[in-house]
Amino acid sequence: MRGRRPLIEVKDLHVYFYTYAGVVKAINGVSFTIYEGEKFCMVGETGCGKTVISRALTNVVPQPGRIVKGEILYHRDGDVIDILRTNEEGLRKIRGKEIAYIIQDPSSALDPLYQIGYQIGETMLDHGTVNNLKEGLRRAVQLLKNVLMPDPDKRVRNYPHELSGGQRQRAVISMGLSNMPKLLIADEPTSNLDVTVQAQLLELLKRLVEDKGLTLFLITHDMGVVAEMCDRVAVLYAGNIVELAETDTLFKNPKHPYTMGLLKAVPNPQTNIEKLEPIPGTIPNLINPPPGCRFHPRCPYAKQICREREPPLKEIEPGHYVACWLYNGGVNDNER
Ligand SMILES: Nc1ncnc2c1ncn2[C@@H]1O[C@H](COP(=O)(O)OP(=O)(O)OP(=O)(O)O)[C@@H](O)[C@H]1O
Ligand code: SF4
Ligand SMILES: [Mg+2]
Repeated sequence: MRGRRPLIEVKDLHVYFYTYAGVVKAINGVSFTIYEGEKFCMVGETGCGKTVISRALTNVVPQPGRIVKGEILYHRDGDVIDILRTNEEGLRKIRGKEIAYIIQDPSSALDPLYQIGYQIGETMLDHGTVNNLKEGLRRAVQLLKNVLMPDPDKRVRNYPHELSGGQRQRAVISMGLSNMPKLLIADEPTSNLDVTVQAQLLELLKRLVEDKGLTLFLITHDMGVVAEMCDRVAVLYAGNIVELAETDTLFKNPKHPYTMGLLKAVPNPQTNIEKLEPIPGTIPNLINPPPGCRFHPRCPYAKQICREREPPLKEIEPGHYVACWLYNGGVNDNER
């Protein structure tokens, strides 16, 4: 990625949730950069922090959450905007317009009381992409056509409940693309749909993003989706990035024991599906996370230092980052 221009830089992000049961240390010092025009993926098991990080990019963290530390820098036409120090009015101009979001559940993204054409048109009107609702509706038909919605001129007049799950998600993708964002964040955009529709929609999303030269931040728990969709990938475990690399490198040469485990758990058509090996153990409680490397209770290579000191994310070869003492000189062969 050297020579490419950063679009979003996340530095040392910490997000905590202040619950009655205690402080949930959900995001624990995450740093990464998304470059202009790339398709960047974040992958990890449920609860590892994918959604919280993606929402933090536009300073939206649900109660009782708080960003307690870190920086999020958004590069816009040569200017650098410090998202966490931008006021609500400034952020409203960015959200949905320059940084758009497709969420996992299309029914919560659409208002059941309004026709989908109206909702897409209104999003454009809100951000000044169109001058009036009539123009918005006309553009909505075209946008629905682009996402291969059947009968788009009739569908604009449908209410969300009159559409199938796949059609609703097509409408949500249209809405996400309607203001020509610089960054499109797609949080598990197809995981509620059946496998065939999933594959079609992901392929479509990839083509639209490439055709329009947008930047994509895709969140998934599925390594197969990563392989199909992304240029680079960050692997998240319990609120930390444990490995970050170009997708090819990660698949051919995974370094972190957790990534290796995830890849073993990817179904391989050449092998018997019954041989899948899930990673033993469960993700830790983030109120009292394990000291040192948060993965150590599940790691077959864990040694004393892993239980005591947190491994930093280190570049072990150009563009390939790993947070593990195996590659930091912390665990030598005699100790293992
Ligand atoms: N509203 C909340 N209250 C308390 N803790 C929360 C809340 N939302 C998130 N968290 C904490 O933040 C962690 C990360 O949540 P997040 O929703 O980002 O996970 P995720 O990786 O997106 O999971 P999934 O794959 O299930 O969508 C959770 O494990 C939980 O501990
Ligand atoms: S730091 Fe230690 S416990 Fe953590 S992944 Fe590496 S070897 Fe395993
Ligand atoms: Mg999520």
